[in-house]
Amino acid sequence: MPGRYLGPAVTTSSGEGKVPSTSISTGGMATESVIETDTLTKRYGKQLAVDQLSLTVPAGSVFGFLGPNGSGKTTTIRMLMGLIEPTSGRARVLGRPMPRDTRSVLPHVGALIEGPALYGFLSGRDNLLRYDAADPTADPRTRRARAESALDRVGLTAAAGKKAKAYSLGMKQRLGLAAALLQPRRLLVLDEPTNGLDPQGMREIRALIRELASEGTTVFLSSHLLDEIEQVCTHAAVMAQGRLITQGPVAELAAGARGRLVVTTPDTGDAARVLKELGVTDLVVTEDRVTGEPPGAETGMDLAELNAALVGAGVRVRGFGVERASLEDAFVALTGEGFDVAG
Ligand SMILES: Nc1ncnc2c1ncn2[C@@H]1O[C@H](COP(=O)(O)OP(=O)(O)OP(=O)(O)O)[C@@H](O)[C@H]1O
Ligand SMILES: [Mg+2]
Repeated sequence: MPGRYLGPAVTTSSGEGKVPSTSISTGGMATESVIETDTLTKRYGKQLAVDQLSLTVPAGSVFGFLGPNGSGKTTTIRMLMGLIEPTSGRARVLGRPMPRDTRSVLPHVGALIEGPALYGFLSGRDNLLRYDAADPTADPRTRRARAESALDRVGLTAAAGKKAKAYSLGMKQRLGLAAALLQPRRLLVLDEPTNGLDPQGMREIRALIRELASEGTTVFLSSHLLDEIEQVCTHAAVMAQGRLITQGPVAELAAGARGRLVVTTPDTGDAARVLKELGVTDLVVTEDRVTGEPPGAETGMDLAELNAALVGAGVRVRGFGVERASLEDAFVALTGEGFDVAG
């Protein structure tokens, strides 16, 4: 499905005629939450795409909106940006109700939603210039300079003269990001920003997101990549099947789950047998490692005893420890499911 990138040029009919004349203050008092939803719901026929979502995105956070395919991330973002009407519930962005205040809110928001729509016959640079020209709040005198600087930030300077139809997926994604960065924004809403990027490109975009956040921009990004969220986000919300599972600071979310026991040994078969007898569950054996869920505190079995039992059974233990719990552990603990697409 072709996506689009959003900016001030995009408005929805629902915003027409109801635009308040006051503008949103860009300095001074910060709004505590930049995005706030209250039982936000979107139904497509029988399908509940988003189900009673109440989300709070603190100002200054890099907020990861995490969920498997089809969990309602893009639908939520479309509602936040005033592109579709919620079935019920409320959303506020920068303190203003959406979609009612779409026209006054969007100039302060840079957004990239499910891959940008581009004019293939224009170069990447000309796409940006044209996009900026469609923005009534953009200053034409600084247009070229702002476009060059945005191209530079996303690493597209060398490819800026190439026709957009010859862009790779990752290059298109970068150009969509550049469009979101043409003006200083209070909020960036990025739907799967690293989609289609190679590992190096992903690192660059993550670094860029951190840099933008350090300049004071709140970044809301969706992803189905757990490790990406862990690397770049301060806060996260986890979605499954349209529902919010949990939200909060990333460190707290991951701390809610126990880490996995990891034993490195050439004697994996013996190690797995001993660990199983001692109550370690969900054992996974690879070439030189055995991992599993350590027994709970209620069993009275501590890690030192596990290690001693392995050594006592003649297992050559080369490494022994508990990996820090990941968001994936937390997700599995909360949902009882893996990170797969719901049917
Ligand atoms: N326009 C639509 N009409 C009908 N159903 C839709 C529509 N848009 C989304 N859905 C359904 O709503 C659910 C949520 O979709 P959504 O695109 O929001 O998921 P997502 O979390 O963004 O997934 P992905 O990670 O694949 O981008 C899915 O079951 C999808 O099939
Ligand atoms: Mg999506």
